[in-house]
Amino acid sequence: MKKDVNVHEIFSAIANQYDRLNTILSFGTDRLWRHQAIKLCELKPEAKVLDLCCGTGMMITSLCKKVGPQTQVVGLDFNAKMLAVAEKRLAAQPMRFNYRLVEGNVLDLPFPQASFDCVTIAFGLRNVPGTADALSQIYGVLKPGGRLVCLELSNPEMPVFKNVYSVYFTHFLPVLGYLGTGNKQAYSYLRDSVKRFLSKTELQQAFDQAGFEGTFFKPLTGGIAAIHVGIKPPIQPQ
Ligand SMILES: C[S@@+](CC[C@H](N)C(=O)[O-])C[C@H]1O[C@@H](n2cnc3c(N)ncnc32)[C@H](O)[C@@H]1O
Repeated sequence: MKKDVNVHEIFSAIANQYDRLNTILSFGTDRLWRHQAIKLCELKPEAKVLDLCCGTGMMITSLCKKVGPQTQVVGLDFNAKMLAVAEKRLAAQPMRFNYRLVEGNVLDLPFPQASFDCVTIAFGLRNVPGTADALSQIYGVLKPGGRLVCLELSNPEMPVFKNVYSVYFTHFLPVLGYLGTGNKQAYSYLRDSVKRFLSKTELQQAFDQAGFEGTFFKPLTGGIAAIHVGIKPPIQPQ
């Protein structure tokens, strides 16, 4: 679990600057991407939603608005410092949100099987060692017919754009990240983790292999991010 320990240290070190720097480095597009991911959840009022790798609670804010106060949105993250920022953000909202934050690991979800209508994970899956194991955990806690929506950074495929972006991502992003946080490791890690993560098609195949049906992905902003969606098959009538 060496990778887990490093990831944990990285997010502890940048927890307080994470939101501000995200907005600067993505030119604000991260918020639009989260918005699109939430649309693809197709949430019904009172749907039970779990947001994994919830970090500072950006997804939870929008999810709470969507499902309404009757239902509790659950956020899970293994980093107490990121969860502390989330708690501060959610408690400060003018609307009363119904949420619960859980400190835990995606690889060992502390929830009963088949307990959620929807699971979201934004910029999280790439950090978890063992995508297949994570997807299997998620599949387990989803109800039959439940939906997984995964927003993740990706490598663009479009000629020319991919070269321009590569220069930004390889050379400028780690420097800007360092200037913004004083942490060199965090933004080199971001670059390297995106480069070595599954391609969009490979991730779709991983969804299929985990048992999800109707899987598809939506590339975002020239393919620098993507939303993958999969549905746990509903129980077939006998
Ligand atoms: C890049 S942040 C994303 C935060 C948030 N979802 C967002 O949209 O901004 C990744 C988060 O995943 C968490 N994380 C990484 N690996 C994890 C694991 N195995 N289990 C639980 N949380 C994990 C980190 O602590 C961090 O808060």
